[in-house]
Formats: sequence, C-alpha cells, structure tokens
Amino acid sequence: KRPPASILFIFGGSGDLNYRKLTPALYNLFLDEWMPEQFSIVGIGRTEYTAEAYRTHLLEGIQNFSRRKGEQNGHVKKFFEHVNYLQLDAGDVASYARITEYVQAKETEWGIHPNVIFYLAVAPQLVPSIAQELGTLNLCKDKATTRIVIEKPFGHDLASAHELNALLTGLFAEEQIFRIDHYLGKETVQNILALRFANALFEPVWNRHYIDHIQITAAESVGLEDRAGYYEHSGALRDMVQNHILQLMCMVAMEAPVSFDANEIRNKKVDVLNAIRPIRREDVHESAVRGQYSAGWMKGKQVIGYRDEKNVAPESKTETYAAVKFYVDNWRWQGVPFYVRTGKLMHQKSTHVTIQFKDAPTFAFPSEAAESWRSNRLTISIQPEMDIRIRFQAKRPGQTMTLDPVNMTFNYEGSDDHTPEAYETLLLDVMEGDATLFMRADQVEAAWKVIMPILETWETRQPQDFPNYNPDSWGPEDADALIAKDGHAWINLPPE
Ligand code: BG6
Repeated sequence: KRPPASILFIFGGSGDLNYRKLTPALYNLFLDEWMPEQFSIVGIGRTEYTAEAYRTHLLEGIQNFSRRKGEQNGHVKKFFEHVNYLQLDAGDVASYARITEYVQAKETEWGIHPNVIFYLAVAPQLVPSIAQELGTLNLCKDKATTRIVIEKPFGHDLASAHELNALLTGLFAEEQIFRIDHYLGKETVQNILALRFANALFEPVWNRHYIDHIQITAAESVGLEDRAGYYEHSGALRDMVQNHILQLMCMVAMEAPVSFDANEIRNKKVDVLNAIRPIRREDVHESAVRGQYSAGWMKGKQVIGYRDEKNVAPESKTETYAAVKFYVDNWRWQGVPFYVRTGKLMHQKSTHVTIQFKDAPTFAFPSEAAESWRSNRLTISIQPEMDIRIRFQAKRPGQTMTLDPVNMTFNYEGSDDHTPEAYETLLLDVMEGDATLFMRADQVEAAWKVIMPILETWETRQPQDFPNYNPDSWGPEDADALIAKDGHAWINLPPE
C-alpha cells in the first residue's frame, strides 16, 4: 500500500546527501511504485537554480548513484515532474512564508491535506535554527501529518545531545521527529530481527549459557572522502560507535519484542543500552583502543597519513580507528564480552556480526578428530556481502572419523536489484509515519552515556604513539591485544 499524499521539503537540496542518497532513493521508490499517488519533492537551498537546472543536476546523481540505472526511459521524466526547487536562505525568517504558500497551493491542487515532511540534510550547526523556524510555522502544528527528519550527528556529546533533544521536543512531539541512523535501514540489519525472532532455532541458545563472546566489525576501506572538516572534530568513536555500532549491538542483544510497534522495539533496544556496564575511567585503557592511520599503501595506491590530510591538524589526536570491549549486565548477557571495532582505510570493507558459541561440553570422538575441531559460529555479514553463515562440524567422507568445520550459508546474492537501499526503506517509513527504525531521544542519550567515559578519558590522556596503524591493515596492534588477552582473536571475514 502506498503512503498518503506527501510533500517532502529537503533542506540542503543542493547538497551532497540529496545528490548521492536521497534523490536516487526516492527515484527507486518511484520505480517500484512505492511513492504516493500524489507527491511533491522540493529541494531547498541557497544555490541559484532554475527548476530545469536543478533537475539536470539531480539526474546526474541518479545516474551515478541509483541502483537501477538502466530503467530510466520515460520514468525519469515522470519522476522529475514531481521535483521542484525553492531558492531560500534558511537564515531568513521571512522567506519561510514561501513554504507555507507552496503547501497551500498543493492542498488546493490535490484537494486534500497532505503529509508535510521537512528533511534537514544540512550541516549540524544549521539544525537548531531551521528547527526553530519550522516549529513556529503553523505548518508543524498538525502532529499526525507533519514530520521533521534529522541526520546525525545528534550532538557532540551527552550534554549537547540533551540540549538538541530539549530544543526539538520543545517544538515538536516526539512522534514527529525522525532521527536517522541509516544502518537501521539496511536490509541485512533488519534481518537480524527476523533471524532472531521469527525462528525457534536460535533464541534458546542466544544467551550466556551458549555464547562465548560476540564481535561486531564495521571496517571501511575508504578514508576521509573530503570530510575532514567534520571528521577531525568527531573521530571513529563518535562517527560510528555511538550510533551505528551500538544500534547493531542493540539488535543482537535485545529481548524479544511483544509486537512490532515502534515504541515496543525501541524500548527493548534502549534496555540494552541502559544495561551496558559503565566503563570506569581508570579502566578505559583496558577496555578501549584507538588508532590513527599513517601514510602507506592501499591496494597499490599510495595514500597520505591522516595528519597530512587537508583540514587536519598536523598533531591531530583524532582517532580513525576504535575498538571497545563492552559487557551487558543483564540475565541474558552477564559475563559475555561484546568486542566492537571500526576504522578507516582498513584492509577490506566489511561489516559483520559474529556470534561465537562455546565449545561442545564433551568431546567423544577419537583424539585425532580433535585437531580440526572448531566451535560453532554464526556470522551475519551486513556488507558488502549480505549473508548469514553457520559454522558447524561435519564428518569428512571416508572410513575414518575425521571432522571438518563447514559453513552453511544463506545469501541475498542475485537479489541486488530487489534489495532496497537503506535510504529507500527509511524515506518510505517517514512517509508512512513509522518510526520503528528511527532513533528516539532517550536512545540517543543512552548511547552517548555509554561512550562518554571513553571520550572524556581520551580527551584528557593524549595518545603517545599516533599514528599507529598502516593503511590496508586491520588496525593497531593494541586492538589485537585488547581481545587476545581474553584468549580470542578478531574474526576477519573472508568473502564466501
Ligand atoms: C556514516 C559515517 O554515518 O557512515 C561515515 O559518518 C561512514 O564516516 C559511513 O563512512 C559508513 O556507512 P556505510 O553505509 O558505507 O557503511
């Protein structure tokens, strides 16, 4: 069922996010017949564009970034009939009247009261003032049909996140605010819930009695991608752990929801965040490791070190790699370590979750069979491969009792054309008013609370040995030590 009639105003309409992600996603939704019967997309920006020039610019974005480049004939033209541009200075209060006029004109044309969605695809420092203006516009009064969509970062630390939430919730009802964490829109991330809660097979062993430890890796092979201005003040912990990785951890560790109601799912997730054992400052060096990449080689290409990047301080202390060991203090997870890591310019792009099970309680096979014996492991590969692998022991055919570890794999291969991008799922949810995959104010703050001791300790104690890892590696040696001292090793996923 298509969502109701909607007008989408995209602040930052001439910006990169809209060009690379939002418009291609909306176009894909249009091709898949998921867009409302009546819809209008209005880019808002300071850059001067005629409607035609704006459409040409976005068409280039579609050609470069849509997963369905081949299917444009005729559809593109139809899609762009719904796309407009408003040149407007977000700082100029008077100009917001044009938004009101636009909505009224559409209401008259369509003869109905549409959803009005404001997507703030702008730099974080612009969010409060735009939100303030929108909040005072009569347009946002209707809580059921007006929504505001915000991109990360949601604050720079717990205090600023709290301040931003206070401002937003003072202007809008919580159900009008859609805070995007694009990892939650990824197909394989959503599949974690299906795997866990639509099967009877896994849940009985999904706990401290059977699971030895859990690893979450979000390794990136890309570097800064011209985002030093932002990244230099963020770092890997804020950029990836506070949001994407902790959200993955919530999906893996949460209790079974009673229903798929947005608040029910989010309550269960926030319970996990609240149960994460606070890391004491004096223990931060035991539980968290940071790294920064040096100059070196990446797949045959020479790359410069982080500190030599444009807009990065020559003595920068910003981490481009972070690894943390967490514990979740509840009945299900007591004593089970969760090792998480993320980094830029790493050997391979690979986001995956590994559930490492305990050894079988006894081993009755002949002793030579023990050599190749491995404990069970379940791996959920999120990207670039999208699959689920279960490792178990099997008998090698032959007259001897020899065992081999084998993998049973489910993958989404071949379904690329049908697999929606994260932004498609999330934009559709916004139009439908379904907030399940979005961050609630308390989730954001609970996640900041988890990482604050690490951030604060890192800020006061400077690293002695930055840079400390080579491009095309798996991060600093200290990260290997973090997990090795517990008798484990990081699991790097070979492609299937
Ligand atoms: C963003 C971070 O939120 O996620 C980027 O700001 C990072 O630094 C990106 O590269 C990773 O997203 P994906 O979907 O490519 O894994």
